[in-house]
Amino acid sequence: MKYKLNKFRFLLLSHLFFLFNKVLCGDRELPSPPDCGSIHSITKRVIGGTYSRSNEFPWMVLLEYQKGVNMQNGCGGVLINKQFVLTAVHCLNNKHLGQLISVKLGVHNQLYNGTRMRVERTILHEDFHENDNGILFNDIALLRLENNIDYSSSIYPICMPFMTDYYQAPELGTNFTVAGWGETQMYYSSKRLRKVIVPFVSRRACKKLFYRKYGTFIPSTNICAGGEEGRDSCYGDSGGPLMRKIRNYWLLEGIISYGDTDQCATEMPTVHAYVSKYKYWIVEHIRNG
Ligand SMILES: *[C@@H]1O[C@H](CO)[C@@H](O)[C@H](O)[C@H]1NC(C)=O
Ligand SMILES: *[C@@H]1O[C@H](CO)[C@@H](O)[C@H](O)[C@H]1NC(C)=O
Repeated sequence: MKYKLNKFRFLLLSHLFFLFNKVLCGDRELPSPPDCGSIHSITKRVIGGTYSRSNEFPWMVLLEYQKGVNMQNGCGGVLINKQFVLTAVHCLNNKHLGQLISVKLGVHNQLYNGTRMRVERTILHEDFHENDNGILFNDIALLRLENNIDYSSSIYPICMPFMTDYYQAPELGTNFTVAGWGETQMYYSSKRLRKVIVPFVSRRACKKLFYRKYGTFIPSTNICAGGEEGRDSCYGDSGGPLMRKIRNYWLLEGIISYGDTDQCATEMPTVHAYVSKYKYWIVEHIRNG
């Protein structure tokens, strides 16, 4: 009898805890497939299963800065749930860009001008640093939006690799996709969303190239891709996503951090924050941030 009572109490407590968690975290949870990484299912029904090309990457976000009296775009980001965007720290602490004010969602759809949402809080990785050669470490940051976003055909989150049970780390031969408006600090930007397929580059090969040119070390929290002429993520946006499609769902593998400083699409790969290595940082800061 006593045992039963305890068991009941346990069930009750765990149920309360579950409810509490739901209320507390609710929209702060990260989605897993099929609730991310593809077009919103409502759209599929409406347009009969065909995707509008302009809605191909509905998690792409543009960052908007205030500099003096002007507003300007300067970096990309990626929507990961109803309230949070992942981007790069170097997009947030850069005087040339100005003060981050808001993000624009849904702009990849050219028939739609996008939805502006103010950024309520920025959470920079505590161990971010930049060495003397301009090489960045732990270049990953979260933006908390002022209000929850309503998902639509043009606004929808990408999947985090650690929210699937079938994820396998990329290897030689893996291809990724990078999309963006080219809103980097270094390159001329295009107004049209472009995408490019980039190959995985092993850390060993990447380390070698960067060591030779910059005498610098690439830690395991980075993932490299690109390094082929005409196929590089410098066509993407700083802070934007390195994406990989597995089983029809797009996963976020990396956040674009830096590349070769002088040129685009050379033999030098682009270096990204390796998202799956930041699982605990991301989950904890979403819960508490
Ligand atoms: C988008 O903005 C342009 C220019 O401000 C305007 O002419 C157009 O009607 C807008 N389109 C939509 C769908 O809101
Ligand atoms: C990756 O892309 C290259 C170049 O387009 C292609 O030759 C290769 O087959 C692709 N690899 C995979 C696994 O799809």
